[in-house]
Amino acid sequence: MDLSNTSDCYVTFQPIGRRIVVKAGTTLLEAARSAGLLLSANCGGVGLCGRCRVQVVSGQMYPCSENEYAYMDCIDHGTGVRLACEARVASSVVIEVPPRSFSSGQRVQTESTGSNLPCDPIIHSYQLSIEPPDLGDSRSDYKRVVDALKAKGDSRQWEILPKSVVQLSRIARATGWRFTAYGRSDEHACELIGFSDRDRPAIGLAVDVGCTKIAAYLRAGAKIGHSAPRERCSAAE
Ligand code: FES
Repeated sequence: MDLSNTSDCYVTFQPIGRRIVVKAGTTLLEAARSAGLLLSANCGGVGLCGRCRVQVVSGQMYPCSENEYAYMDCIDHGTGVRLACEARVASSVVIEVPPRSFSSGQRVQTESTGSNLPCDPIIHSYQLSIEPPDLGDSRSDYKRVVDALKAKGDSRQWEILPKSVVQLSRIARATGWRFTAYGRSDEHACELIGFSDRDRPAIGLAVDVGCTKIAAYLRAGAKIGHSAPRERCSAAE
């Protein structure tokens, strides 16, 4: 191995998908700190505590130091486990950092500042209360819904999905003609896409697919839940 190598090396830390460029010969602990990752280093990074263990997934590293060999009992060199404070990169590498090697628990960010954007969904709900059909009023169920929307001041031209016609008939009669209609509208069309019991709140799911993580938000007017199971690996790299 050429110990005078000073070329640029990409060091990618997983599972957080953080990547940084360092010179060959840089220790993984130095690279992690440069990347903003706080690894455990109880001994101050001098190879004595063994708290900074990481796993080399791919790429070349300089050979193990004496301090690393001192951990031969607990480190199986065949698995690529190294001490971050002692192991020096020799090429671009991918490093897996186990949770116990972080100085504090890793936390996936699911909140952000400046995210209170106005909610402008393309699907809206309409609370309807409609007179049921009788011998003197034989309008179709669909026509009744459209007329009820117009009575609320909505003069747009509505269409209905064929499968929603069946649902409308069932929901209207099951609820005594007091139900919620859901309409999808844009500059091209207004379409009735579904109906439900009035007591059932409308829930929307927003998925934020970012470069490093995926977060899902469940909303019913206001946010009622969120989840970000883990940050994404840097597969795009
Ligand atoms: S920081 Fe203590 S062994 Fe690496």
